[in-house]
Amino acid sequence: MRLLRGLLLLLFLVFWAADARKGEGRSRRLMRGRSRARAVKRFAADCKEYSTNGEKHLDCQERQLKSVQSGWPEDIDHLLLARNRIQVLRDNTFSNFRNLRSLDLQQNEISRIEENVFSGLSKLTTLLLQHNRLQMLSEDVLIPMPQLKYLRIHDNPWRCDCQLDSLVRYIQVPSNRNLGNYAKCAEPTAFWGRKLKKLDADQLCTPQHENVEIPKPEHENLPAPIKEFDATTLCHTYMHPVPHMDCRNRDLKTVPADIPLDIMRLDLSINNIKQLRPKKFITVKDLKLLNLSGNSLEGIDTAAFTGLLNLNELDLSNNSLQNFPYGVLEDLYFLKRLSLGGNPWICDYNIHYLIYWLKHHRGVYHTGLVCSKPKEFQGWSVEDYVKTYNGECPKDSQSGQTADPAGITAQKFGDETEEEELGPIPYRGPKKYEIIRLT
Ligand SMILES: *[C@@H]1O[C@H](CO)[C@@H](O)[C@H](O)[C@H]1NC(C)=O
Ligand SMILES: *[C@@H]1O[C@H](CO)[C@@H](O)[C@H](O)[C@H]1NC(C)=O
Repeated sequence: MRLLRGLLLLLFLVFWAADARKGEGRSRRLMRGRSRARAVKRFAADCKEYSTNGEKHLDCQERQLKSVQSGWPEDIDHLLLARNRIQVLRDNTFSNFRNLRSLDLQQNEISRIEENVFSGLSKLTTLLLQHNRLQMLSEDVLIPMPQLKYLRIHDNPWRCDCQLDSLVRYIQVPSNRNLGNYAKCAEPTAFWGRKLKKLDADQLCTPQHENVEIPKPEHENLPAPIKEFDATTLCHTYMHPVPHMDCRNRDLKTVPADIPLDIMRLDLSINNIKQLRPKKFITVKDLKLLNLSGNSLEGIDTAAFTGLLNLNELDLSNNSLQNFPYGVLEDLYFLKRLSLGGNPWICDYNIHYLIYWLKHHRGVYHTGLVCSKPKEFQGWSVEDYVKTYNGECPKDSQSGQTADPAGITAQKFGDETEEEELGPIPYRGPKKYEIIRLT
């Protein structure tokens, strides 16, 4: 009897100690609060758990997973399951993840979603299902998520018939303006390429479309998969660590249309874009990094960068640019880095605007501004060329840059002024779109 009591006491102590240790870990994690450094825990399937800004992420991306595994921590805020091999989402898969606020299931092979799969996700605001194989989804699936604000379902082969009626009506409710944008019908042929957001829902259930089996066209006869260059079909978008879009090396000839409005980093490098047309980025107001390196850019419209008030970094290296049209940089109040290398800059009067602008935005760190023409200035830094042109007296050029006539290394005008103090701070009215910053 005494032995038994002793054993029980021992067991109790062991559990208590284990529990206390867990609690300690939790408070330590809380105390670390906003710090970026964090311990990364590993789980089955080699997922990584980490926290940023007090929010817990479980990163299980690209792990050949076919389903959600048991034993994952359930108190997480963000679950990243992109680029796995999930085919079916079964009822209650996520019902234990009650704190979940974002769920990324893009780039899987999901073709079926059971009706109660999302039950319990009462805090979920972001659900990413783009680049899957869904043809049908009912509004009922979304009902358990009253907080849902962002739903991405583009690049799925939607069959626009009567079964899709409730979803189409749901995403068309004006207050649901960030649900289901960019998604398009793949079938029937009559609706091919039409946006779900803009469909006339009344037409979905009219007899001529209901239950009409439209034979799949032969491969040769398939309409070209992309009629217009459409960003959401061609490129991949991600929410973590910040909303970004990867359009690198996609053989693009123009800036794609329909770039999601909340994108903060846009990689358009290694493509074939020749011209930047006006106002192509005007809707992407939060853009911080724009990479156009490795295209064939010959010309930039004066209004090409209109609206990019928050841009920090612009990479235009490895293009065919010879000059900058007057006024092209006027909206870029917060630019900090400008990469210009690998372009055949012509040092004549047309380049003066760029130098003038850089002089008035001393916080902008720029690289690669070297004359390639005319012959007499070949290899000169463009600033040195402009100084010669202006016939400035030597005193002006003593501020340290002349030691590097080729301008190969990065240059900064004048002295090291604090970047933050420079440039006007534009008035920023109330944001039209709520951006969820996940880091
Ligand atoms: C832009 O893209 C090129 C090629 O993909 C890459 O080498 C470069 O580092 C990128 N620039 C920035 C600023 O990320
Ligand atoms: C330009 O591209 C070449 C390769 O094609 C690469 O080696 C070089 O680093 C690139 N330059 C810049 C400035 O991105």
